[in-house]
Amino acid sequence: MGHTITVKNPATGQLVQEVKINSEEEIKVAIKTGHDSFREWSKVNAHERSRLLTSWSRIVQEHKEEIAEIMTLENGKPLAESLGEVDYATSYIDWYAEEAKRIYGRTVPASSETKRIIVSKQPIGLVAAITPWNFPAAMMTRKAAPALAAGCPFIVKPAVETPLTTMRLVEFAHEAGIPTDVIQYVNGPGSVVGNIFTSSEYIRKITFTGSTPVGKNLIKASAETVKHVTMELGGHAPLIVAEDADIDFAVKQTLATKFRNAGQTCVCANRIIVHENVVEAFSTKLANEASQLIVGNGLDKDTQIGPIINEKGFDKIVAQINDAVHKGAEVLAGNQYKVDKEKGYFYVYPTVLANVTSNMDIMKEETFGPVAPITTFKTLEEAVEIANSTPYGLAAYFFTNNYKTGTYLHDHLDFGIIGWNDGAPSGAHIPFGGMKESGLGREGGIEGIEPYLETKYLSIGNF
Ligand code: SIN
Repeated sequence: MGHTITVKNPATGQLVQEVKINSEEEIKVAIKTGHDSFREWSKVNAHERSRLLTSWSRIVQEHKEEIAEIMTLENGKPLAESLGEVDYATSYIDWYAEEAKRIYGRTVPASSETKRIIVSKQPIGLVAAITPWNFPAAMMTRKAAPALAAGCPFIVKPAVETPLTTMRLVEFAHEAGIPTDVIQYVNGPGSVVGNIFTSSEYIRKITFTGSTPVGKNLIKASAETVKHVTMELGGHAPLIVAEDADIDFAVKQTLATKFRNAGQTCVCANRIIVHENVVEAFSTKLANEASQLIVGNGLDKDTQIGPIINEKGFDKIVAQINDAVHKGAEVLAGNQYKVDKEKGYFYVYPTVLANVTSNMDIMKEETFGPVAPITTFKTLEEAVEIANSTPYGLAAYFFTNNYKTGTYLHDHLDFGIIGWNDGAPSGAHIPFGGMKESGLGREGGIEGIEPYLETKYLSIGNF
């Protein structure tokens, strides 16, 4: 293992910054320091914690352009998307600054006149987070804000591709007055830091956003010390277009969900399932719109689709396209690339594939790239069967103006997040998370603070 992480700009392959890797000893010291801060931080009253979070959000907003530029440099996403992500990130801080003041307990009628029963909530203890490269700011605050609001100290390990955004966010938290031992970051490879986190008796909760295989390992390793876990894992979102859908609207929303962050999100539509009577109209429009999206360096103001994060991600996308084409898919747009392996940049032009069938890899595995595979259905039952035939259950979308079709699809789709005529259902105020192998727990909304709290019950006798 080297001593530094080399952060490169995926748009050009050029060096952005070298970042020090923390030694095992340093990470253990950070964990102990975080643990030792728990008693004091948990006693800071909720209104003060709320005030500190609000100051953090304000300082991040004051540096919005700076953070957005760092994000585009290390992640590659278009600057407009990075600016949007700073707002998305602070919306979690703002939401949980409010929720800090709404951590309620309750009293329960006792079964005897001589007793009183009180149920209260208390913070769980030190929380460790492992965050992904695709949303370096929002996935960090989605975890840090509820933890801090609940009274838990927080330590984060950002993705090796994108540590700089997190490091700056933590500095701003300190500037806001959140103690340096209460929010910390450490840097290093996921497997190494993950092992140190999961084997530490001081950490009471692991929260992770990333792939399902890594999530499974973290769950297994956390069992040793019976840690709480929140896991936001892979997705393979279906997007169903019913016969009666408003096709222009459905195309517009499909573009939004499919090509956001160059298709590198867990909630991107990954399987587009269109009624056979409207598939031609839908596919032609989607291909036409997709081929007009501007691909390039995220720092150029016209860019709509940035680069793929790295060669491994690129190879997976290309393999899925090739497999689909080899098995009979028709290319309606894209299947073009701009690549320089030596310099280290990889662009995939928005690609639309028709005649996609269930034996193709792209229908079985998450793509994490700007590829829209289209398949067809005749009956709603068939659409649901295709949609649910995956171990994943994060997000699903459908387009219909018929309320019976809509409620049928809502009731039968096994997914945690459903967008009905809505390609952008995310937000700080909603419970984000998946069913099946897409994860455990929810982040955001009133649900998102619960996983950072223990329930304690007090029975008082002898009244
Ligand atoms: C993700 O891709 O993991 C998060 C996307 C979102 O919050 O909308």
